[in-house]
Amino acid sequence: MPRSRIAGIGKYLPPHTVTNQDLTQYMDTSDEWIQERTGIKERHYAHRTEETTTTMAVEAARIAIERAGTTAQEIDFIVFATLSPDYYFPGCGVLLQRAMGMREIGALDVRNQCSGFLYALSVADQFIKTGMYKNVLVVGSEKHSFGLDFSTRGRNISVIFGDGAGAVVLQAAEDRGILSTHLHSDGGSAEILAMYNPGTHANHWTDTGYATFDEAPIGEMFMSHAMIDQAQNFPYMDGQAVFKKAVVKFPEVIMEALKANGYQPSDLKMLIPHQANLRISQFVQQKLQLRDDQVYNNIQHYGNTTAASVPIALCEAWEKGRIQDGDLVCLAAFGSGFTWASALLTW
Ligand code: COA
Repeated sequence: MPRSRIAGIGKYLPPHTVTNQDLTQYMDTSDEWIQERTGIKERHYAHRTEETTTTMAVEAARIAIERAGTTAQEIDFIVFATLSPDYYFPGCGVLLQRAMGMREIGALDVRNQCSGFLYALSVADQFIKTGMYKNVLVVGSEKHSFGLDFSTRGRNISVIFGDGAGAVVLQAAEDRGILSTHLHSDGGSAEILAMYNPGTHANHWTDTGYATFDEAPIGEMFMSHAMIDQAQNFPYMDGQAVFKKAVVKFPEVIMEALKANGYQPSDLKMLIPHQANLRISQFVQQKLQLRDDQVYNNIQHYGNTTAASVPIALCEAWEKGRIQDGDLVCLAAFGSGFTWASALLTW
């Protein structure tokens, strides 16, 4: 069976940069607090009206497709990972298909938040390995800046996230490519890092003055003023609980990938961790006894771009010559769900 290899990779960061100092005009925070807890110095925000999750994905995809030596017309399937879609439905996959003038190919949206790109990559890998498709476009893109609480109430989350997109084209190869992917979830902690509304659950009614879901006015079930007043349309995160689980699951899923292929951490040319928090990456590096040159971090300049973070970091590492043909590379992610995942590949 052939392997699937990343034949082309691209990234897009919107030009508008927002520093930690810039955020202090909206909320009670400081450059010192943000840098000390997260490592982040700045992030990019999409243009308010002219850029969306899909338009950013198009920019990244164009580069990936060109570098793969193919065209948008030759793409056989799209897998699109995002938690900040242009519409509640339909998903961004079909919007990308339309925007790039592609054939009437399949387009699948993946909703696995920070692990989204790795889940998407794993799905695409199966289609290539079985020979069903020749060129699969895998995208991670996020426009977080539209959906964050920029008041002091939301500061523990809003300072972390940034906008951007990354994309790869997978093609079959005999001599290199994805060795294995490893996907996990634990829904027991689903509400620890989540955006509750709009949604079809009815748990919020006890918080909004209605005793039960049945008492709620029918027109307010999906989105009500009370939900907005309680900031339920913004993400919620118990940061310390996320941190504690992440520092266990990141090393675990990286070791799982290495062991499955008979390797150890010292064999890695590069680990590309999801850029959740610089402190988490440093903890993982220490735990696996990796050298600085074996771990790629760019959260300092982009913040956490969720589904886009792994392809953006991988693309940047490759563009800087830090990854070359034949190198052993591990991609790993952890996030909301909880979900976590890894992929081991030879570049
Ligand atoms: N600026 C200034 N102060 C802030 C702040 C901000 N942006 N955000 C929170 N604080 C305050 C809190 O209000 C709290 O104040 P108090 O002690 O007066 O109540 C204090 O800082 C500590 O808050 P806490 O939430 O305990 O901070 P923390 O040390 O856990 O750091 C995170 C918060 C979010 C940086 C940290 O928990 C984290 O990185 N967790 C992992 C999150 C993550 O990776 N998420 C992405 C998952 S993929």
